[in-house]
Amino acid sequence: MSAGRVVLGVCGGIAAYKSVYLLRLLVQQGYSVQVIATQEALRFVGPVTWAALSGRPVLSELYDQKTGKWHNHVHLAQDVDLIVVAPLTAHTMAKWACGLCDNLLLAVLQSARVPVFVAPAMDSDMYAFGPNRENMQKLESLGVRILPADYGPLASGETGQGRMAEPDFIFDRLECFMDGLPSLRDVRVLITAGPTREYLDAVRFVSNASTGKMAFSLAHAFRNCGARVHLICGPTALRPPHDCQITWVTTAREMEEACKNVQGEWDIFVGAAAVSDFYFPNPSERKLKKEHLPAALPIAFNPDIVAYMATQASEKQLVVGFALESENPPKQARHKLIQKNLDLVVANCVQEEGAGFGLHTNHVWLVDRRGSLTEIPLQSKNKVAAQIVKHVGEIYLRKLHAGSENLS
Ligand code: PMT
Repeated sequence: MSAGRVVLGVCGGIAAYKSVYLLRLLVQQGYSVQVIATQEALRFVGPVTWAALSGRPVLSELYDQKTGKWHNHVHLAQDVDLIVVAPLTAHTMAKWACGLCDNLLLAVLQSARVPVFVAPAMDSDMYAFGPNRENMQKLESLGVRILPADYGPLASGETGQGRMAEPDFIFDRLECFMDGLPSLRDVRVLITAGPTREYLDAVRFVSNASTGKMAFSLAHAFRNCGARVHLICGPTALRPPHDCQITWVTTAREMEEACKNVQGEWDIFVGAAAVSDFYFPNPSERKLKKEHLPAALPIAFNPDIVAYMATQASEKQLVVGFALESENPPKQARHKLIQKNLDLVVANCVQEEGAGFGLHTNHVWLVDRRGSLTEIPLQSKNKVAAQIVKHVGEIYLRKLHAGSENLS
């Protein structure tokens, strides 16, 4: 069964090579993909590559010169679940924004009724060029979802903003999209992510297997709602979404400090990090010799960040916690909700195969202050995140408009 039907539009820029990886990610995850490339795009990556990976011929012209076959752009634009254009060049963007239509991709884009995501890619000066910014804004005002270009080295040899978003970023953003996501435009979301580390000496520490994936998927889903996201991240090998504000921390106390520093600058707080409950007071600045390691390690308790954030929250702010449990996650989640005075708890089970740490999948239960329990079955963390964010967004908007909810 197809995970979804996608049109992948490709324009003529060097970043077209990165879209090969995007296509591969989509196909590997079960999406059926029709590639529509401009003639310029086919100079960068040939038709055989697109056809081999998508399993269907790449389309480019409004009609086939040899057979005279006409490609129905309305059918292509509307009989899919979403369209993504990566890379989007300045030229195609300009033609699209002013309604010019001289190729199949433009005809499809102008007939689209499904969500359209675009990943612009160009040199940094072009990216900053006024008319290009205006075209981007114009498309955005028409409902097109812009995946902003990243900073870094460019094909020109310069460094700046203009690099196409990475394929895994684009894939995550698409997978974190679902119908019915509430609009949270400019709502400020603060999320803790990943593990913390508590050092015993210069090289040894206690931590856990959190990768930050669940938190980063939430960040993508919130961005899909138009929210502004600030991630406070413990050490992780995964790259957080580049269009979020990032604060890196190591220990739980640093994470708490970072959260306190932005007190009053958030509307929704999500504690998705796996925070160590304890630390070692007075860690050695040097590597301890094996023979000097103490037989027993004194510990001190870390602050409970999410509980602290709940004590500081105003009527209009929403605090969401997680609960990682070995047994009966919904029951434990209800307990944590009351104990820490949270608005919502997302429970997952560390014992369950496919759920919890590290993996790209999860199975969660949502427990809220009305006493309702919602189960989100095992699926990719991106899809789980979209459903969590839909739920969180609805509670937030209700709270914003109607005041706080009563504990049942
Ligand atoms: O990062 P991944 O590999 O994708 O894995 C995702 C996850 C398993 C880490 C995530 O889904 C998850 O469950 N995060 C919370 C893990 C956890 O620490 O659970 P807990 O039951 O110990 O803590 C309950 C809540 O209190 C959490 O919101 C936690 O962030 C918070 N907490 C805990 C201790 C502490 N000192 N301060 C806190 O804020």
